[in-house]
Amino acid sequence: MQSAYGYETPPAASELTSVEPGSPMGELLRRYWQPVCTSDDVKDLPHKEKLLCEEIVLFRDGSGKVGALKPHCSHRGTSLEWGRVEEKGLRCCFHGWLYATDGQCLEMPCETEEFRERMNVWQPAYPTLEFGGLVFVYMGPPGTEPEFPVYDMIDPDVVGEVELRGMRLWSDQGIGYVQDCNWLQHYENVVDPWHLIMLHQVISGNQGHNMLEGLTHGATVRDMAKIGFEKTALGVRFNMVRELPNGNYFIRHAECIVPNAFLVPAVYDSGARKTRATELSWVVPIDDEHVRGISIVAWPLEGGVPKADWRPGTDISDAVRPGAALERSYEERQRKPDDREAQEGQRTTAVHALENLGTSDQGVIMLRRTLRDQLKRLDQGLDPINIVRDKDAARGIPTGTWNAVLSAGEAAALGDNIGRLG
Ligand code: FES
Ligand SMILES: [Fe+2]
Repeated sequence: MQSAYGYETPPAASELTSVEPGSPMGELLRRYWQPVCTSDDVKDLPHKEKLLCEEIVLFRDGSGKVGALKPHCSHRGTSLEWGRVEEKGLRCCFHGWLYATDGQCLEMPCETEEFRERMNVWQPAYPTLEFGGLVFVYMGPPGTEPEFPVYDMIDPDVVGEVELRGMRLWSDQGIGYVQDCNWLQHYENVVDPWHLIMLHQVISGNQGHNMLEGLTHGATVRDMAKIGFEKTALGVRFNMVRELPNGNYFIRHAECIVPNAFLVPAVYDSGARKTRATELSWVVPIDDEHVRGISIVAWPLEGGVPKADWRPGTDISDAVRPGAALERSYEERQRKPDDREAQEGQRTTAVHALENLGTSDQGVIMLRRTLRDQLKRLDQGLDPINIVRDKDAARGIPTGTWNAVLSAGEAAALGDNIGRLG
């Protein structure tokens, strides 16, 4: 027995987990356009959000431009979330100072114009852009904004007739209903395919529609699938191959687009021979202890209108999946744990120093290593991975995430060549 007496918990690896301003990972994440809310969230009222440990008030002026301001008014600090959205900007409720989307104070109704001009007040602000139904902010150093990277599966020039929709696929609690934990353990989940078999199949029953059905055959858990991991141009992905009852093979990939975007193909079987991921999602740290998910969905059109009987590949909202229910009893959560129980259960922030990583954790190891490499690049004054500066290069960026059904011959041709085997 190894006694628990006097057991001490070392601190978490904060260089990967902490996202506060000035922290290594906080600075890395601030070098990317980060999704803060959906375009629909910013209507005729101010919209307050928190990301990367900072509160931001968003609003849309009369011209349609979205502003992202620090919340506390430069006059005497009232939160602009209580302000009034007007044609030219956001007006503080207290004494009426009016701020444009770039933060410039345009009016001080209780002051003289001479005072306003002399003071030249600017409310601290971040640049914004909208794409695919989401609002993005750039929280990095001024002038370092990269191009917005349009990956192939959300580029209509590549995927054809689609409508891009900004969505919280699993309500405000994000992917798999995980919210109250550090962002990294949620992100690591993308390249942890073994948990699909253990947690979502063996322990809790089929929590993923048809994707996992049939996986029960195999003498041991290790026999249920062949799984490899590889570094990609965008980050890290897993490759999973399993034999289907009819002798064909099913191959599945999911990919982390470092530092915090990801692609997961459909979790239910559409019957198609090859299905690409239909949504690009982000693991967005709210602060060091909370995370949310948000996505751009490429919704297919039929005759110019969105297909009514279609749903996003990872939408499990009506699923049998027990974790899809927001509130579950303690007993139910113990009997059928889901991502939430597994990930929040790793402690609020997982302590890497206490882990015993194995061969099946190679995706997680590769991901952490890739993130650390980017911290080094930033330190050296270099652009980290997935920063695109060329406008043309920012369109149709190839991704490597799909489900496919292979014949036995095609699968045999793959051999063991599916990346490092976990
Ligand atoms: S506190 Fe905002 S105008 Fe006075
Ligand atoms: Fe999961």
